[in-house]
Amino acid sequence: MYVWFTALAGLAALFLSFSRKLFPYFAQDCTYILRSIKLGARLTKYKKVKPFYSIVDCFLDAAKRHPSKTFLHFEGREYSYGEVDGQSNKVARALRAAAGLKEGETVALFLANEPGFVWTWLGLAKLGCPAALLNFNIRAKSLLHCFSCCGAKVIVTSAELLDAVVEVLPTLREQGISVYLLSEACNVTGINTLLNKISQASDEPLPRDLRANVSIRSTALYIYTSGTTGLPKAAVVTHERVWAASFIQSVCGVTSDDIFYINLPLYHSAGFLIGMGGAIERGMTIFLRKKFSASQFWDDCRKYNVTVMQYIGETLRYLCNSPMKENEKNHRVRIAIGNGVRTDIWKEFLNRFGDIKVRELYAATEGNIGFINYTSKIGAVGRVNAVHRFFFPYTLIKFDIAKEEPVRNAEGLCIEAARGETGLLVGKVTQRSPFVGYAGNQHQTEKKRLRNVLKKGDLYFNTGDLLRFDHENFMYFQDRVGDTFRWKGENVATSEVADILLMAHGILEANVYGVKVEGHEGRIGMAAVVLKEGEDFDCLDTCKQVCNYLPSYARPRFIRIQPCLEMTGTFKMKKVRLVEEGFDPAHIEDPLYFLDSEKKTYIRLTETIYRAIISREIKL
Ligand SMILES: *[C@@H]1O[C@H](CO)[C@@H](O)[C@H](O)[C@H]1NC(C)=O
Ligand SMILES: *[C@@H]1O[C@H](CO)[C@@H](O)[C@H](O)[C@H]1NC(C)=O
Ligand SMILES: *[C@@H]1O[C@H](CO)[C@@H](O)[C@H](O)[C@H]1NC(C)=O
Repeated sequence: MYVWFTALAGLAALFLSFSRKLFPYFAQDCTYILRSIKLGARLTKYKKVKPFYSIVDCFLDAAKRHPSKTFLHFEGREYSYGEVDGQSNKVARALRAAAGLKEGETVALFLANEPGFVWTWLGLAKLGCPAALLNFNIRAKSLLHCFSCCGAKVIVTSAELLDAVVEVLPTLREQGISVYLLSEACNVTGINTLLNKISQASDEPLPRDLRANVSIRSTALYIYTSGTTGLPKAAVVTHERVWAASFIQSVCGVTSDDIFYINLPLYHSAGFLIGMGGAIERGMTIFLRKKFSASQFWDDCRKYNVTVMQYIGETLRYLCNSPMKENEKNHRVRIAIGNGVRTDIWKEFLNRFGDIKVRELYAATEGNIGFINYTSKIGAVGRVNAVHRFFFPYTLIKFDIAKEEPVRNAEGLCIEAARGETGLLVGKVTQRSPFVGYAGNQHQTEKKRLRNVLKKGDLYFNTGDLLRFDHENFMYFQDRVGDTFRWKGENVATSEVADILLMAHGILEANVYGVKVEGHEGRIGMAAVVLKEGEDFDCLDTCKQVCNYLPSYARPRFIRIQPCLEMTGTFKMKKVRLVEEGFDPAHIEDPLYFLDSEKKTYIRLTETIYRAIISREIKL
C-alpha cells in the first residue's frame, strides 16, 4: 500500500516537475525518488516483521555474510566483522553478569573514538539496552547533568577519561550509579574493572529474546545536541531514527565496497548514525580515527584507500587551509557527506582536491525533517521535492529576527515565507515524522514545539534554522536563529559577514556575532578572528573588504584577535561567551580593534575610545 501510494505520488510529482520544464534536474529527481521509495519500503518491512529488525540484526547478518571482512581499521590494527561480533557478545555477557543489565535499562558510554566504543554499544544493543553517548569533552556539572537526564544506572568509561569520572564519583556513588572501566585493573575504590570480565566471558551469540520487546519506536540511543549555548540536551533517538540516518549513505550512492573514514566523534549523530550506522547498513569497512587531523587527513585516505569521507561545520575549511601539496588530487575519495560547508569553501575544496561528489545534507539529531542535495548545485542543501514534502510536510514561515519569534497574523497564525525569502524551517509533527523530544527536559522539548502554525491546533517542530527556497526549488541554509542579529533595523547573517572577513589579507578564521551597546537597540557587529601564521592584523585591507562588500549596518565594528576559536565537539563555533564579554578593553586581554568610519581603517580600541563610544561621543 505504502509503496503504491509513494510510487503514484512520485509519478505525479515527476510529471509536474517535468511539465514545469525543470528538465535539467529531472534524472536526478527520479533517481532520488526511486532510491527513497526503495528505502521507504524497506523500513516498512522492518517495521512489520516480528521481532523487529534493528540495526543490530543488520550487523549480525553482515557478520554472517562476511565474518572475515574488515569492519574497523584503528591505529594500525584491523578488526573483522566476526571479531567485533564476538567481542560484543563478550561485553554483553560481562555487563549482564556484573551489573545485572536487563532490556530497556540505559547505559551511559563515556568513551573516546575507539573500537571498544563500537563493541560496547553493540553488546548493549544485543541486550536491548539504550546507550547514552556522552560527549567525552564535558566535565563536572555538565557531565553530571548529561548523565542524569538519561536515567542511566551504569556508566562505562576508559582509562584516559578516568580523572573526569573520579571528579564526579562521590555524586555518582551517592546516586547508586555503578562505574565500569575498560581496563584490567584500577586502584580507585568504587570503580569496577570490565576488561578482565570481558576476557573471561564467552563469545557465544546472545539469545534474541533478550531484546524481544524492542520495537521501531523504542529508544535506541540518547545523543546530546552539541548546542553552542547552555547545557547539552539529550535527544531521544528511536530505532526508526537510527534506520533513517543509516540510510543516508545508501541515498548518497555509497556501496559495500567503499571504505568510510570516521574522524568525527562517535558520540554525535554524524559519526555514529550516518557514519557507523550507515557503514553497518552497507556492510562496509570503516577507517576509524581518534580525532580529526587536517595534516594527516589525505595521508590517511591514501594509506587506507578511503573512498567516502565525512565533514561537518568547519572541517572542510581546515582541509583547504592546510598547505598545498603536490599529490593533493592523488587519492580515491569519491564522495563527501556532511553539512555546514560554505559555498566558497565548497568550490575551493573541489578545485584543490579534485572531483569529489559533495553530498551536503541538512538534518538535526532531534528534528523530524532532513534534506540531501542530490543534484550538483553548489551551496544548496537540498531540493524541494513534492514526494518528500507529501510524506514529511514542512514549510518556511516568516520570522522576526529582533523578537526571535515567528511573525503571526491577526488570527494568531504564522505566515508562509514567499519564494526567495528567508524563513524559519518548521516540520509538521505526524505519525511518520514524530518529534520525540529531549529526555528529562520537558521545558526544552516544549520550546521546540510550535503550535497554530498554518491551522488552529496544528503542531510543528521548530528547527531554529533559517532557510531560503529559490525559484528552481533548491534550498539554501541561511543561518541559525540567534546567529542572525539585528542592527539599525536590518538583519545581519553572521555567516555572510564571516565569508567577507575571510577574504581580507591575513585572516584565517572568523567568528561573527552581535554585541549589545548601551543606549542602542539591537546588537552591533563584532568578530573574533584568528590570523594566519606570521601575519599581523591588516587594518586597512580588512576595512577595505568589509566596506566594499558589506552594507554599513553589517560591518563588524569591533574585531577581537584570538589565538584560536573555541569550537564545539562538532566544529561549530561557540559564540555565547564572546557575546557576553562584549568589547570592553578593560576586561578583554585579546587585542581589540574598532572600525573608524572617518579614517577608513581599523584602529586599536583603547580605553579612551571605549569610553567615547559608551558616552556616545563617537556615533555608531
Ligand atoms: C516484555 O514486556 C513485557 C510486558 O511489558 C514483560 O512482561 C516482559 O518481561 C518483557 N520481556 C523482556 C524480555 O523484557
Ligand atoms: C589499498 O589498496 C591497495 C591496492 O589495491 C592495496 O595493495 C592495499 O593493501 C590497500 N590498503 C589497505 C590498508 O587496505
Ligand atoms: C550538491 O551540490 C554540489 C555543488 O556542485 C555538488 O558538487 C554536489 O555533488 C551536490 N551534492 C549532491 C548530493 O549531489
